[in-house]
Amino acid sequence: MDFKSVAPGASGLAALSADALLVVVAGTSMPADAEPALATLLRDAVNSGDFELKAGRTLYVHRPAGLKAQRLVLAVAGDDSAKSFKAAVAAGLGAVKGLGVSHLAVAQVGSSRMTEVHAEALAAAVSDAVYVYRHTKPSAPSAPRLSRVSLTCAKADSTMVTVGLRRGAAVARGVETARECANRPGNHATPRFLAEQARALAREHGFRLQVLDQAAVKKLGMGSFMAVAQGSDEPLKFIVLQYQGAAKAQAPVVLVGKGITFDTGGISIKPAPEMDEMKFDMSGAASVLGTFKALGELKPQVNVVGLIPACENMPSGKAIKPGDVVKSMSGQTIEILNTDAEGRLILCDALTYAERFKPAAVIDIATLTGACVIALGHHHSGLFTSDDELAEDLLQAAKRALDPAWRMPVDEEYAEALKSNFADMGNVGGRAGGAVTAAMFLKKFTTRYRWAHLDIAGTAWKSGAQKGATGRPVALLTHYILSQAR
Ligand code: BES
Ligand code: MN
Ligand code: ZN
Repeated sequence: MDFKSVAPGASGLAALSADALLVVVAGTSMPADAEPALATLLRDAVNSGDFELKAGRTLYVHRPAGLKAQRLVLAVAGDDSAKSFKAAVAAGLGAVKGLGVSHLAVAQVGSSRMTEVHAEALAAAVSDAVYVYRHTKPSAPSAPRLSRVSLTCAKADSTMVTVGLRRGAAVARGVETARECANRPGNHATPRFLAEQARALAREHGFRLQVLDQAAVKKLGMGSFMAVAQGSDEPLKFIVLQYQGAAKAQAPVVLVGKGITFDTGGISIKPAPEMDEMKFDMSGAASVLGTFKALGELKPQVNVVGLIPACENMPSGKAIKPGDVVKSMSGQTIEILNTDAEGRLILCDALTYAERFKPAAVIDIATLTGACVIALGHHHSGLFTSDDELAEDLLQAAKRALDPAWRMPVDEEYAEALKSNFADMGNVGGRAGGAVTAAMFLKKFTTRYRWAHLDIAGTAWKSGAQKGATGRPVALLTHYILSQAR
């Protein structure tokens, strides 16, 4: 997709040549700055009752009078925020879906506020609308023809808008990488597949890559990670990706993504309904790969390490059993009370491995708990950290990226639920505060650096008719990393 900013000439939007013009009306009253042809159209549509100035409404006009573009879509944003702009663009794109539009021009009336964030939001909305999963469904309706999008803005804003579009396009490609990866079914997206994806990214963008196998992981003493993998015939992989954008001596940001390529629950097996969705249990890993994709395009001056422990969680004669005790790489022992709490078991060893990079900060990303979905639903990812500054930076990035997160508590009292009579800790803490006790488990492995945990169980994918990966939180992570660059 080609994104550009254009400053309309003296004859305004009416003279724009594009296959379609999408005009976002910011606000819910008649925009004062709409040029005559548009103003007439708008007034007529509203007076006739065909159109209402209410957030989310759209109107399609074929061969609009007085405009050069052959198609016009009006879309109302409730206000002039980037969030509302994005929603209006998405709604407007719905109205031209299936039409022969390859060049779309987008404009905003009712507000002169066109910022970098608006430009990024446009790129995100467009990329989201044109994504079609095809890998195992080649018969899926082909993607819309859209290949060029121009965002109109005042000349004075065009530099800023161009920067926003470029960043937005890079983030969108990262999001697409993550979605494509996470949408692959479990028999396709194996640990080996994740390693291959990482290899392809490394080749394309010059990242350093190491893929550790069973023997290497055993040598490191990752007893907890190996315990989860032992029930599967599919060999585990531990992926280490490194992006160097700053001096070698500069401490990196380390991203750790949960890469359970399928989570049956193991011996503590999950019920059958919706179990298919556990193919998305590697969405944390996919978000790390997606973020690296965006980094490869943006090349910020910062160092980033991506760690992905990848394996399946299967029941079998070799699988771990409830009550088994394993020794983690940190030396701490764990009583596995529930084999379905496997994410934390693979992450804890990756978190210990992260120490060797002397990181500036470590952020793990995981579809960790159903409890987080109950607590926050599908809008906010859960953010867990005891570091206020890191929390602030991540929340800022989330806001900026329109990829929201909500801070959750991590008071030590919650860790009491993890006490075990047979090991240093149990791997579950009961039903109460399940998302928090999962975070408390991870926290025990992160005492040597600044750390935050993102539980994306509710945000990484959608269920029902819209079933599919969202690519979250690639936007949040990319923005956080950009904020750490100099
Ligand atoms: N991958 C799941 C978490 C999950 C469940 C994400 C549902 C999205 C929707 C994770 O491995 C898991 O099974 N967690 C258990 C933990 C429990 C056994 C303490 C859960 O949430 O039920
Ligand atoms: Mn599980
Ligand atoms: Zn899981």
